[in-house]
Amino acid sequence: MKTIGVLTGGGDCPGLNAVIRAVERAGIKYNFETLGIRNGWQGLIDGDVEPLTDFSVSGILPKGGTILGTSRTNPLKRTSDFQKIKANIKKFGIHALVVIGGDGTLSAARDVAKQGIPIVGIPKTIDNDISGTDMTFGFDTAVATVTEAIDRLHTTAESHHRIIVVEVMGRNVGWIAVTAGIAGGADEILIPEVHFTMDGVCKKLKDRYDAGKKFSIVVIAEGAHEKDLGLSSVPENERDECGHEKFVGVGNILGKELERRLGIETRVTILGHVQRGGSPTAFDRVLATRFGVAAVQLVNAGEFGKMVALQGNKITSISLESAVNQLKTVDTDFYELAMTVIGGRK
Ligand code: F6P
Repeated sequence: MKTIGVLTGGGDCPGLNAVIRAVERAGIKYNFETLGIRNGWQGLIDGDVEPLTDFSVSGILPKGGTILGTSRTNPLKRTSDFQKIKANIKKFGIHALVVIGGDGTLSAARDVAKQGIPIVGIPKTIDNDISGTDMTFGFDTAVATVTEAIDRLHTTAESHHRIIVVEVMGRNVGWIAVTAGIAGGADEILIPEVHFTMDGVCKKLKDRYDAGKKFSIVVIAEGAHEKDLGLSSVPENERDECGHEKFVGVGNILGKELERRLGIETRVTILGHVQRGGSPTAFDRVLATRFGVAAVQLVNAGEFGKMVALQGNKITSISLESAVNQLKTVDTDFYELAMTVIGGRK
């Protein structure tokens, strides 16, 4: 029987275990053994593996996180590491790798595939920023979590006549902010893709206040930036191994500035890793399962260097190259839709 090695890399998210379970179960159908590789690419470097069986994946479908563990290790950062990867692929008789990750992990998968290693990618991230797929699993659960948080913050903001700034994840795109902002009925949504000015935001919130709405919910994506606030990306050395920047806390800066300019009591909630935790929604469980089965079907067909993708309601595949060569940013018409229902800034 041939062996599929499966690894989960980058930030964790709900749905990862559903994919792992689907890969193992589809492997049985297509006559593969499945070898779990611990902690992303690092596990392949270290030879840290565990065989996955029907028993070991039983009951993990609703479980958040990843039973394999993850890391942000870049497999090509050190030549010696890539040599170890090749040696371990040989040692464990791995026929093909199924790599589950976001842009960092899948960019590495593209580069490793170019070195002749048979790889199939599965797009995972709460950010939903992977090109070529309408959605990544993890995103729907994060949106549900943020929406519930916004609903809860509405009642306290209204009771105290406050502005509450909610900072959400999403790295350099605003998909979580816009989608959960619409779902939660936010009064302002600020994202990296659309430049905003403090004057514009303040005018909108003041007009609301003067019209009798004595509270507001402002959703801001962590990657949003505003020159007036002097925000900029952190110095080069404050980045992770995949080169991702670490953010400066735009929510707190915005909250202070709003209270200073408007004189309205303002509080800030940074949702942080709450957005990455918990059990996956039904949608994410099903999408993750579909991705896992499709990935094994690609391995079985010998189609490597590809990533499974959701397009419309169909599961298809695209090249890893096209998936990672540019981020999928929020389209303008979706942002305009949000502005329409919450009153775009004049
Ligand atoms: O890519 C997913 C993500 O949650 C981003 O939205 C966020 O900026 C980043 O990971 C946080 O990374 P870490 O978990 O390493 O702090």
